Amino acid sequence: MSETSDKPTVRILHLEDSRVDHALVKFALQRSQLNCELALVDTLEDLLKELATGGYDIVLADYHLPGFTGLDAWDIVRETGSSDLPFVILSGAIGEAAAVEAMHRGVSDYLLKDSMHRLSHVIERALEVSQTRRAKAQADAELADSRQRLAELAEHLQASIEQERADIAREIHDDIGGALAAVKLDLAWVGRHAKDEGTLSHLNTAMEMLQHALGASQRIMMNLRPPILDQGLVAAVQWLASSFERRTGQRVVVRRSSEFIDVPRDVQLVAYRTAQEGLTNISKHAQASHVDIDLNDREGVLTLEVTDNGRGMGPDALRKAKSFGLLGLTERAAKVGGWLDVSSSPSGTALILSVPLSPEAMPGDTDHNLQEPHDQSDFV
Ligand SMILES: Nc1ncnc2c1ncn2[C@@H]1O[C@H](COP(=O)(O)OP(=O)(O)O)[C@@H](O)[C@H]1O
Ligand SMILES: [Mg+2]
Repeated sequence: MSETSDKPTVRILHLEDSRVDHALVKFALQRSQLNCELALVDTLEDLLKELATGGYDIVLADYHLPGFTGLDAWDIVRETGSSDLPFVILSGAIGEAAAVEAMHRGVSDYLLKDSMHRLSHVIERALEVSQTRRAKAQADAELADSRQRLAELAEHLQASIEQERADIAREIHDDIGGALAAVKLDLAWVGRHAKDEGTLSHLNTAMEMLQHALGASQRIMMNLRPPILDQGLVAAVQWLASSFERRTGQRVVVRRSSEFIDVPRDVQLVAYRTAQEGLTNISKHAQASHVDIDLNDREGVLTLEVTDNGRGMGPDALRKAKSFGLLGLTERAAKVGGWLDVSSSPSGTALILSVPLSPEAMPGDTDHNLQEPHDQSDFV
């Protein structure tokens, strides 16, 4: 209608049974600066037919129509999937209750016919609100999509790491382990045939070094892909605890609900990696003197709790740029339907993995996440 604006033309569908009122709307829009096209329908059938063309940006609807109301029209428009199309009720007398009800049901706005001078303003505002809503919905969808892709990437990386570890362990076993075993046999042969003191002394040193190399390759294989897991989670966690004690001199007490905790292989690996990372973190960051590990499978939930009496985590610990240990554990836990809680104070840190083992043990929609450490204000 107006030629003055360079904004795109607003395509308006007017639902109105009175030709006079339609002319009034046309007149009000002509006087405004709004660049628009106006089409008229007066039945629900024609309204839906026009909307199905997808050629409109907004609907203006009279309230009192023959046999139905503007609100009935809105309900039908909404049901047919055009709920994000701005819909403004334009009426001679809508009444406060109906106006409130209209807004409540999601109508964009309403305007009394004797305030027609505000029509273009109301239309522009309704379009703006709907555009913002659409942009937000799109941004939300993109965010959810990118979160999903990130979670998939993390899952893929974890799986690749496990696979790579298994491959390296196998190569160490086949190549290095095989070669070292052959050297050992040869050295033993030399030992049986050598006579002089000098050769025997060198032989002994070589045997000691060889024993050291065999021990090291076995230790590396254990860390890469723990065959100890074949003996069950309790044995594997006890093995982790005792090698940690030997390495660091810090005391570890392992408590468990029973001698053999039977959980699926993937859950077992997640629990093992959680204990392993928990202990590594303690040796790297905690300055603790004592560690408790608690393994429990009562009430259909596996819980693994690694607690230290160290100095606790700093307030920004979970946001460190290159720290992915605890984040990785959170992803691993989620992959088997569980979650990880971290709580920390200046007198120690607890890392708790929980994995429901049966569908009945699944929690409601409680939001378990990697929490910020508790009692942050206590940190110096
Ligand atoms: N048991 C702990 N005691 C004190 N601080 C800890 C402990 N575990 C983790 N942290 C803190 O949390 C941070 C994040 O840990 P993590 O995600 O495992 O990454 P990384 O160990 O590679 O730094 C660590 O850098 C450390 O500051
Ligand atoms: Mg770590």
